[in-house]
Amino acid sequence: MSAQREPIGVIGTGYVGLVTAAGFAELGSDVWCVDIDAEKIARLRAGEVPIYEPGLKELLERNAARLHFSTEIGGALEHARLLFVAVGTPPTHSGDADLSAVNAVVAEMPNSGRHALVMKSTVPCGTGATIQRVFGEQGKESLSYVSCPEFLKEGSAVKDFMHPDRVVVGDDDGWAGDAVIALYEPLGAPLVRTDVASAEMIKLAANAFLATKISFINEIANVCEDTGADVIEVARGVGLDERIGPRFLQAGIGYGGSCFTKDVSALKLLAANSGYHFQLLNAVTEVNELQKRRVISKLQRHLGALAGRRIALLGLAFKPETDDLRGASSLVLAARLLAEGAVVSAYDPVAADAAREQMPALDFCDSALAALREADAAVLVTEWRELVELDWSAVAAAMRGDLVVDGRNALDPLRLRGAGLRYEGIGRR
Ligand code: UGA
Repeated sequence: MSAQREPIGVIGTGYVGLVTAAGFAELGSDVWCVDIDAEKIARLRAGEVPIYEPGLKELLERNAARLHFSTEIGGALEHARLLFVAVGTPPTHSGDADLSAVNAVVAEMPNSGRHALVMKSTVPCGTGATIQRVFGEQGKESLSYVSCPEFLKEGSAVKDFMHPDRVVVGDDDGWAGDAVIALYEPLGAPLVRTDVASAEMIKLAANAFLATKISFINEIANVCEDTGADVIEVARGVGLDERIGPRFLQAGIGYGGSCFTKDVSALKLLAANSGYHFQLLNAVTEVNELQKRRVISKLQRHLGALAGRRIALLGLAFKPETDDLRGASSLVLAARLLAEGAVVSAYDPVAADAAREQMPALDFCDSALAALREADAAVLVTEWRELVELDWSAVAAAMRGDLVVDGRNALDPLRLRGAGLRYEGIGRR
């Protein structure tokens, strides 16, 4: 790849920022990464990767010579025209996005016709217009603004960066949008060039739709349980319709992560703030919250009262291949089990350290079998491959009881039953 490619700045070295930086470095750009967290920058400079994301470490190592890390924005402004903003926008108590980190970057931008702020952070619709107005008020009207939302998934972020379904660029058809498009050009992805407000809405609508798809199949799963149908068969039959598609139709104990919950709520509030009641999204959220709790009634149906029962949670991260616990169903499940008086043992191959801090009352174990020892029941919470491929005869021997609740419909009921275990999935016969 040519080393002549446009250099860029990336502000924020979280999941989105680091993957974007590493990805563009791989494509040949020099990348100036900026973060206010001095410890994180020191670790990155030392070659450490602060998050668990498959393939990221290798990508950063391979492109180390093109990646520059700093706590100051100056270097990025000096070397790059395009500053990609990938800082956090967590929800506030009112459910609105907290834009303080974004605003801090806006305040640091110079009055320069050479520079553009390229927004990768997920922001409410209208943020781009507000920032452009602020630029005007601050006498920085020559700065350009581009909305370039990110669609990568944790756990497969590097692959998603290199093989995007589409690239969305929202601007006013200026030089900066052209430059962003040129950066993505080698990836050969379909391009949606549009205005800033539409680009912002595409991001929120995509996440809200995916969350809706999951809540929909979860409700179908719940009805399957009462009708004798099997949700896996149903999802296969429904998903082969090209208008629907097979992905994100996996029923389970609800979606987690920081994005779906945040973006569904942001879209709902965005509508509400202008007087529109987005009814569908209320249901999506409620179904997801109830879905996390359904496991408790399944356990109670088999075991009766849970007080004093030992329940093993297999997997804690919100999905496999990540150490991220934000919005994880395990948090709700563990809290509910403890509230019922159960003793909860837990194992996660990667997220255990973070989980220890957030769920100190759990009995953390170094292996799945250790967590299963003397357990009355087990719940598969995260479908890590290591957990899906457990030796179920060894599991049956370790447990006191025989109940396994498959919260991700990822296990083979026949194999578990063959090992003498009782299998209970979500919406499965
Ligand atoms: C999601 C979107 O998929 C990305 O496109 C987007 O860029 C990202 O949010 C973001 O806005 O940053 P992510 O939250 O990393 O990505 O992970 P997903 O793979 O979407 O999974 C979210 C949750 O849904 C997980 O808990 C997963 O277990 C659950 N899920 C997913 C289901 O329960 N069923 C499914 O069929 C698919």
